[in-house]
Amino acid sequence: MSRMLEELLDASRATGWAAGQGTLNQVQLDAAMLKWTEVPTRRGGPTVSTLRPVAPSDAQPNSLSARYGTGPQPLHTDGAHLATPPDIVVLTCATTSTTPTYLWNAMRGGPYAQGASNLVQHGVFLVSSGNDSFFATAYASRRLRYDPGCMLPADARARKAAQFFEQAATTATEHHWSEPGQVLLIDNRRVLHARGSAAHEPQREIQRLSFYLNGEA
Ligand SMILES: [Fe+2]
Repeated sequence: MSRMLEELLDASRATGWAAGQGTLNQVQLDAAMLKWTEVPTRRGGPTVSTLRPVAPSDAQPNSLSARYGTGPQPLHTDGAHLATPPDIVVLTCATTSTTPTYLWNAMRGGPYAQGASNLVQHGVFLVSSGNDSFFATAYASRRLRYDPGCMLPADARARKAAQFFEQAATTATEHHWSEPGQVLLIDNRRVLHARGSAAHEPQREIQRLSFYLNGEA
């Protein structure tokens, strides 16, 4: 029998994301059957995160909320501060939300089509990761890593890469949480995402799980 998560992964191959219906519980069960590994956002922390609009004063350091609060977020990948960021991010919303999620596939009409591949492969960023920090490029080992909340451009190419990702927001696709029980699977290796302004919706709640796909190239 085909599993919801497997179908979403299949459906995401062309665009880099796919939406369907399901619960957080179902996502976890399917992932366990598929032998995907849940990735905690912070070392030793929980693997399920409840995302709520948060004011900067209440936010985790180096998080996007610490800088942008409940306003619109910039495009980013999740887990950019980790040595190996998660392959897949799954968002679920039990109810509905009037705050869209923005999606932008970097590999389609992205860096390569527009001649920015040099910037994302060679521009060096300083990545803050808790008490640690390390240098990384925005693209390496067939994986995108970009989060302006924790990545500071360390050279001219990285500064241009950051501008490039900022401009990409104008061509991002909107996902609307207009029906209850939606699941959105995002290929975090090639798609950037962002939340629209949630200043009008303090009660917004999205659940997030991140995974490594075991045995999948
Ligand atoms: Fe995110």
